[in-house]
Amino acid sequence: ATKVTLPHLQTKKHQRQPITALTAYDYATARLVDESGIDMVLVGDSLAMVVMGLDSTLAVTVDEMLHHTRAVRRAVRRAIVVADMPFGSYHSSVAEGVGNAIRFIKEAGAEAVKIEGGRNRLELVERLVDAEVPVIGHLGLTPQSLHRMGGYSVQGKSMRAIDELMRDATSLEHAGATAVVLEGMPREVAKHITADLSIPTIGIGAGPDCDGQILVFHDLVNLSFSKPAKFVRQFGDAAALFRSAIGSYREEVLQRSFPAEAESYHLGKEERATLEE
Ligand code: KIV
Ligand code: NA
Repeated sequence: ATKVTLPHLQTKKHQRQPITALTAYDYATARLVDESGIDMVLVGDSLAMVVMGLDSTLAVTVDEMLHHTRAVRRAVRRAIVVADMPFGSYHSSVAEGVGNAIRFIKEAGAEAVKIEGGRNRLELVERLVDAEVPVIGHLGLTPQSLHRMGGYSVQGKSMRAIDELMRDATSLEHAGATAVVLEGMPREVAKHITADLSIPTIGIGAGPDCDGQILVFHDLVNLSFSKPAKFVRQFGDAAALFRSAIGSYREEVLQRSFPAEAESYHLGKEERATLEE
């Protein structure tokens, strides 16, 4: 299978072929996602919640994100690997943001970084593009804005908010962003932004009219231990599969039926005889 590249995403938009994206945080799941033919693997800062068990994304660090991005990078051969810039890694200054972004490319092999925000991040987007770091924007329900939003609620519902979102989206495109994630907004708003932009939009909780879709891997397979949001569809039940396997393992150890003879190593004849004397 030929490698997917960032320019391919643009082609897909123009040919109206949906872009498929998923998050992954480790080698095993990233391999499965890549081997399934998904176009883009995002090492999302959602790992703070689904992997680390924190109750928001705010506390995850650059070093933690780098660690997971390296694991994903080793697994992925075909898809584009995108690393999420965590909260605090690009908020103090543009220079610090560029420096941190370069670490994801240089130390972890990411092909692009994702940052949350619109017109408040234009200088950063321009400087990143200038530094040869492709950047994906993220608008709408941006989880790093938790405290400002006062919770995880759908954004872009008033005419004023819609206008702000549209301006953020076109500004990101003009600043040189490669694509933009649209999260948690009415489908009509996402449709409008998608039609307005020449760069692809990738939706999550933003309806079916985006140029692509992304989900959190753990939500897709029922491993997130939370009531799924309205926009989540559980395409499989890994929790049931894992529970059943763990339960069977435990039972068979208790019954001494695991490990069996065929699962044991043996000494040679002579050594066995000596040992049994
Ligand atoms: O962190 C994440 O998983 C994300 C996607 C849901 C877009 O930002
Ligand atoms: Na994220």
